[in-house]
Amino acid sequence: MTGTVYTAGWSLGDIPWNQFDPSKVEPRMLAAVKAAALVEYNAPDYVAYLSRVFQGDEKLIAEFEGWGREEAQHGAALARWAELADPAWRLELAFARFRAGYRPAHFTGDDAVSIRGSRRGEMIARCVVESGTSSYYSAMRDVTDEPVLKEIAARIAADEFRHYKLFLATMDAQNEAELPFWRKLSVALSRINESDDDELAYAFYCANVAPSDEAAKPYIRSFYAKQSFACTGRIYRRHHIRKLVQMVAKAIGAAPQSRMTEAAASLMWRVLRLRAGLALKMTAGETVTA
Ligand SMILES: [Fe+2]
Ligand SMILES: [Fe+2]
Repeated sequence: MTGTVYTAGWSLGDIPWNQFDPSKVEPRMLAAVKAAALVEYNAPDYVAYLSRVFQGDEKLIAEFEGWGREEAQHGAALARWAELADPAWRLELAFARFRAGYRPAHFTGDDAVSIRGSRRGEMIARCVVESGTSSYYSAMRDVTDEPVLKEIAARIAADEFRHYKLFLATMDAQNEAELPFWRKLSVALSRINESDDDELAYAFYCANVAPSDEAAKPYIRSFYAKQSFACTGRIYRRHHIRKLVQMVAKAIGAAPQSRMTEAAASLMWRVLRLRAGLALKMTAGETVTA
């Protein structure tokens, strides 16, 4: 833990770039940071989608636009660090490939209905994502010894906790019938399940396989999902997962401190350890970056 409380509204100029220590860059962390930069940088597409789902609520749409700018800045900060660590890497090149190949239907359509079935459902899905990102960057902050990345991750984690609060408050403010518990659980589980979809695996591929290597190393989702997880799954500690599960529990109306939540956190921790160990074993000896 850094012990510093980071407030909203920071910029790239607040990062102490001159403290960058190349000897503390770890290859798997660098690969994970490059991939995370692409996913974060893609946030404006999600703002457009949320603005359709919440059309008519201009104040809220303005808040979502602020959220999207912060997410894109996360991408810019992570990318700048990656470019320091690997001067041959360029965000714009990797991002252009990612954007060309990753266009989920709800980003390209003009449907004003959430893919989660309701505005409340949409906010549960967003809370799940922010629970995941706040835990991920907290883990990154705690595990890295590179001082600049430590500060970037700490600042991003603080933003992600605030984003969670924004989406939780938005869910509670909706003039819609409360969803039954099973429905909220189902939305949360389906969003957790989507962590295995193309977004993370393809971002990892575009961020870490050079265009010149595409023919020799074609994109295979399951392969790059494992490569990605080998870099990300191992950074968590038990308390990060506990916090993640407590946040998701709160979003679906379950008691964050209950025995059921504690049991879910224990199970998720064991599954994650097992999967991270397997992914590391399966990818051992393979080059992480291009
Ligand atoms: Fe973010
Ligand atoms: Fe966020």
